[in-house]
Amino acid sequence: MAEQLGELTRTHTCGALRPDDVGAEVVLLGWVHRVRDLGGLLFVDVRDRAGITQIVFDRDDEALMAKGKRLRSEFVVGATGRVRRRSAETENSKLATGEVEVVVRQLTLLNEARTPPFPIADDTPVSEDVRLKYRYLDLRRPRLQANIGLRHRVTAVIRQYFDANGFWEIETPILTKSTPEGARDYLVPSRVHPGEFFALPQSPQLFKQILMIAGVDRYVQICRCFRDEDLRADRQPEFTQVDVEMSFARPETIFGVIEPLVREVFAVVGREIDTPFQRMPYSDAIATYGSDKPDLRCGMPIQDLRELFRESKFRVFREIVDSGGTSRGFVVKNAAGYSRSELDGIVDQAKQLGAAGLIWARRAEDGAITSSVMKALGEEEIRRMLDAASAEKGELLLAAAGEPDATSRMLGQLRLALARRKGLLNPDEYAFAWVVDFPLLEWDHEARRYNSVHHPFTSPHDADFDLLEREPGQVRAKAYDLVLNGNEIGGGSIRIHDATVQRQIFSLLNISPEEAKLRFGFFLEALEYGTPPHGGIALGLDRMIAIMAGETSIREVIAFPKTAAAVDLMCDAPSPVDSKQLKELHLLLKK
Ligand code: AMO
Repeated sequence: MAEQLGELTRTHTCGALRPDDVGAEVVLLGWVHRVRDLGGLLFVDVRDRAGITQIVFDRDDEALMAKGKRLRSEFVVGATGRVRRRSAETENSKLATGEVEVVVRQLTLLNEARTPPFPIADDTPVSEDVRLKYRYLDLRRPRLQANIGLRHRVTAVIRQYFDANGFWEIETPILTKSTPEGARDYLVPSRVHPGEFFALPQSPQLFKQILMIAGVDRYVQICRCFRDEDLRADRQPEFTQVDVEMSFARPETIFGVIEPLVREVFAVVGREIDTPFQRMPYSDAIATYGSDKPDLRCGMPIQDLRELFRESKFRVFREIVDSGGTSRGFVVKNAAGYSRSELDGIVDQAKQLGAAGLIWARRAEDGAITSSVMKALGEEEIRRMLDAASAEKGELLLAAAGEPDATSRMLGQLRLALARRKGLLNPDEYAFAWVVDFPLLEWDHEARRYNSVHHPFTSPHDADFDLLEREPGQVRAKAYDLVLNGNEIGGGSIRIHDATVQRQIFSLLNISPEEAKLRFGFFLEALEYGTPPHGGIALGLDRMIAIMAGETSIREVIAFPKTAAAVDLMCDAPSPVDSKQLKELHLLLKK
């Protein structure tokens, strides 16, 4: 039977005791981490959030020793005793408390525990489903303790930073109306208004803009967002944003607030981040890295090789270039040793990624030239090609031809796959960039209409307003993403603050005035009451912390995440509800 806590009061955490404390009478409260029973001697590691301390049982106190021998992993105990220096040979340099131990005088058995389904004391691999079902046990393990502790420290730094810079944290509603961020909404039926629904916010976008209209000037919120979309390692149905909005802001105003924030956040893990971050137009990111979230850790920029092929003997590429297509390629360092079958594998991979074909050419360490198209082009032309791409000795050029965007995207994926396989992405390096000047709209071939690339409240570029009528697809947006090591960790824009322009954008998006009024009428009306120019950004907090913690999935930095199938395995949600509840909500389930 469990004993009561009574007056037992903790004097130290399990991470606190040092040689200075020798002789002190202490009380530790925590979990049994490990038991070492050497017959006449009993050592128990007691653990709490702060660390681990060894307690020892005196062989002379038989009753106490007998009680100690009942201890099993994860029992909850109170240990009262005196701190003693360990002998030199029993010191444990792996523990912060490893120079001392506590000789137990009194043991309080606060609770027993069933044998856990996996060991808590180490990071033995366990299937993720089991970890998620027993999340409270997984959260006791070192990895998640570190991650969740890091998350706490980061959010504390973020709050302090924004407070010091004049931002107000304001809570916006969770029961609200749908805002378009491109995903499906989670809906909540209203009991008091039959047939009507709240939507959970995909982001507080409209509320934060309305706060600017309300004169708040600088807003921040660490807020939960809800999106019913296909899940991946970096996506959860509910996730956390650091949501920011500022009045009278240009993109540089936002960058000027976020860059020092990122420096302070990464200082939490002892890293110094160089600012300002590189600014890279979207079109350059696509052309040079084949991605709007380029990983800049591995070099290997994609180069334009069109000029080479205009006069080439290589008919396939020449014809593509002549008919307005492109030829692009990139150089891989230290590739002299790639075997023929490895090179064939790269060509196959390019085909799987959608390439019509991929050619390679290489300069060996001794200067000898080889190529997959040696026969067709001849050594002279291949040498010219390697020179043009600045491929030195030991380097390999991979090149493809086709439609410009598709070719760059294919090469971008190939570049990343190679970089991963060859270990060129240093996990200790943090390469940040702002990707700027995104297109405002993208053409949806299926629906035969434009969609917003960011969201419909994003302002066109000042210089591109006159293209809105003529060539909407060419209009650049005042939108930007913050990219880190190939991940989009934030996105934002300068907003439209003029109701007329906002209506024009809705109409370009094929949203009729009636529909606009129904969905966003309150917002269009608010825009007409003196809206200041404004803009903002939202950082994906889970993604940023996952990268800081060296984790590949954001599930590892969220206390209670959902599976890739959007299920909470611990509390078994979602789950059916009883018919009375459905009836109250005016819902009838289809059989
Ligand atoms: P956006 O949709 O780009 O912008 O989201 C901002 C950032 O949130 C993170 N993110 C996610 N993280 C985990 N799981 C998800 N399902 C998920 N979806 C997005 C990403 C992303 O960069 N209202 C705008 C912001 C603005 O314009 O100010 C918005 O929500 O890191």
